[in-house]
Amino acid sequence: MGDTIRTEQLTKDFGSVVALDRLDVAIGEGVTGLVGANGAGKSTLIKILLGLLAPTSGGATVLGHDIATEGAAIRGLVGYMPEHDCLPSDVSASDFVVHLAQMSGLPRHAARERTADVLRHVGLGEERYRPMGGYSTGMKQRAKLAQALVHDPRLVLLDEPTNGLDPAAREEMLHLIQRIGADFGIAALVTSHLLGELERVSDHVVVLDGGRLLRASATTDFLHTTGTLLVEVIGDHGAQDLMGNALAAAGLPCRPRGHVIAVEATASSAEQDVHDLIRDTACALGVGLVRIQVDHRRIEDVFREGEEHVIHA
Ligand SMILES: Nc1ncnc2c1ncn2[C@@H]1O[C@H](COP(=O)(O)OP(=O)(O)OP(=O)(O)O)[C@@H](O)[C@H]1O
Ligand SMILES: [Mg+2]
Repeated sequence: MGDTIRTEQLTKDFGSVVALDRLDVAIGEGVTGLVGANGAGKSTLIKILLGLLAPTSGGATVLGHDIATEGAAIRGLVGYMPEHDCLPSDVSASDFVVHLAQMSGLPRHAARERTADVLRHVGLGEERYRPMGGYSTGMKQRAKLAQALVHDPRLVLLDEPTNGLDPAAREEMLHLIQRIGADFGIAALVTSHLLGELERVSDHVVVLDGGRLLRASATTDFLHTTGTLLVEVIGDHGAQDLMGNALAAAGLPCRPRGHVIAVEATASSAEQDVHDLIRDTACALGVGLVRIQVDHRRIEDVFREGEEHVIHA
């Protein structure tokens, strides 16, 4: 099976603004983060992929189906969580999701069963018979996620699922999305304007800027080509110095930062090789490793550097 989503020179010109500008991007299995500032073209791309909007020029395939001619087939295989509130306030989550399940072709009994399952999965088991008008933003986002999953899609397009959520609810939503990918094998395209939050749950990250592709890569590539690894060892500054000197001697540029060693992973080395080298170095010195972790601040910097790059290009 080829790409989950592939666009070719995909363009959407609204007249006043070009929302997508000859976009070429290929998206595979797993969870892909679609990141960009407000107005970058994320929602426009999703709507075009679903056949809700027609492109001005160029084309795309979703799960091997052409958006120009096979919209109905695509919508049968894809779940969609829209960006804006779309929930009728006087209807319960249960009735709403059952209704949408039946609309997508499930018989009544199966629709009821699937609805109970997905609502439990998103954590709305208790409240599912209450009218959604009384739901908190977090509960509404969960109901929106449930309706995207109810017909057992192969791909879900989630437009800003963490929008309006407080930090705890945000974490829970990200965890749910991660489980969609890992436990159910459903591919997901998830939008956000925060690169940092998606990078943890995404296998791949696509960054849009002004309707153009700024960057597309596996999250690990993102980290190893540009990122810093933070290494913490057991012991005092002596142990840290020992380790830092040995890493430098092994060809890994590094410097102390507080109680950790910041290692610059060079573009030529694969992330796994760097991990192995750090582990072997610690082992040879008899120094205990507490952890090796990616420096998360850097990925936001990369995003900003990229943006500047485009502005000056
Ligand atoms: N129906 C429309 N008519 C005219 N312009 C539109 C329309 N829909 C979107 N646009 C414009 O296209 C550009 C991309 O919009 P889009 O909604 O795809 O961005 P986005 O990345 O989803 O942004 P946000 O993070 O704010 O949701 C914006 O400049 C927007 O104003
Ligand atoms: Mg949007």
